[in-house]
Amino acid sequence: MEKISVIGGKRLHGSITVGGMKNAALPILLGTILVGDKCVIENLPEISDIKSSLDILSSLGATVKMLDRTTVEINTASVRPGTMPYELARSMRASYYVVGAELGRFGTSRAACPGGCDFGVRPIDQHIKGFEALGAKVDVVDGCINCVAPEGLTGSSIYMDIVSVGATINIMLAAVLAKGMTVIDNAAKEPHVVDVANFLNTCGADISGAGTDVIKIRGVESLHGVTYAIIPDMIEAGTFMMCAAATGSDLTIENVIPKHLESITAKLEEMGVDIEDFGDAVRVKSVQGPLRRINVKTMPYPGYPTDMNPQIAVLLCLAQGTSILTEGVWDTRFKYVEELTRMGAHITVDGRKAVIEGVSALKPATVKCSDLRAGAAMVIAALATEGETVIENIYHIERGYEHLCEKLRGAGADIKKIYVPDTGSATKAV
Ligand code: EPZ
Repeated sequence: MEKISVIGGKRLHGSITVGGMKNAALPILLGTILVGDKCVIENLPEISDIKSSLDILSSLGATVKMLDRTTVEINTASVRPGTMPYELARSMRASYYVVGAELGRFGTSRAACPGGCDFGVRPIDQHIKGFEALGAKVDVVDGCINCVAPEGLTGSSIYMDIVSVGATINIMLAAVLAKGMTVIDNAAKEPHVVDVANFLNTCGADISGAGTDVIKIRGVESLHGVTYAIIPDMIEAGTFMMCAAATGSDLTIENVIPKHLESITAKLEEMGVDIEDFGDAVRVKSVQGPLRRINVKTMPYPGYPTDMNPQIAVLLCLAQGTSILTEGVWDTRFKYVEELTRMGAHITVDGRKAVIEGVSALKPATVKCSDLRAGAAMVIAALATEGETVIENIYHIERGYEHLCEKLRGAGADIKKIYVPDTGSATKAV
């Protein structure tokens, strides 16, 4: 079993470079299904969710060739729809983009319902509503999504009842090759939605308005292959900003788009942290004295991101006074609270609200990751805590953070992966 061991209490320094954005890369990789031609995708993060997406593409009949660590060549000419293996569909949330892409290109798709982090019920009704509005017949039976549009898809106006990143992207994928115009109203505005639209437009699609709440997609006959580079990961960047702030450090985060980090920057500044913007890098400079208490509510972009909820909770634990952290997107995003409590945090959760009373320091402990961003929070807490903290269930972290230990070690952290054989006591560094 692999775990992460952190000897905390050290300041970070120098710089860390951010990789490509997971939540843009996944739909772009699976969106190549629509292209039916050769695409080269650059700046991929080296994480297990990307490997799963490439495995999905291979299983569907695409040829997939890594050109270097972060660049892949994919040819989807020979893809056969409806053949994604159950285990791969269940391995992550983003597998549902196969449905939008297959439906768009072939007018048919069949896939197991997706897996992903456990935030309570994760409905896909808005995806289905969109596919149906485009003319597909959709059934969800025995955990499988079956879609068919024998006459092909036809553009339509779709009002999203809830702002959903996944549904916005999936409908966009399905609509790109549909006949006529599709309008998505109340669309998600996240930078990854824009990146997917930019990728598709580079392939010959006609999408306008991505990044606003009305996206218009004029259907085109076909797409063509391209070379496309994924944008930097704002959540990875934000996580490193929190690592710096929690450890009282002076750290530069490179390869970022500061505009995407505005809500995170604003909250850190409110807590008394200095952030300097260098155009493609941000410097996080902690000032003397304790962090200030604040209230935070997570929201769709451009609000403070739900995927930065657990990370800021750690900072609020270390701030002076009582803060309130409200989750505005998911029903259940506070599973990590139990683990922080083992480290001495004082947090009371009531539904979607956590009341966090600052403590002077956290204590080292053995803790578990309950999901990807919860895992990142465990790392931040461990870095800020004197003594050794051991983090278990790190496969969650590896789904979404590339070389986390190496990157943090390069900035002065004492962090390593350890391998603990199931049977016993021996431990070796890996
Ligand atoms: C994406 O999930 C991200 N995942 C999540 O990132 C992120 O937390 C989430 O967007 C919100 O930003 C990927 O991009 C792969 P949603 P997604 O559809 O698309 C409700 C991470 O750590 N909803 O925007 O599944 C839903 O229940 C992760 O990287 C419906 O009611 O999220 C939620 O309350 C985990 N019906 C809200 O909308 C639907 O049909 C937002 O969900 C769809 C969603």
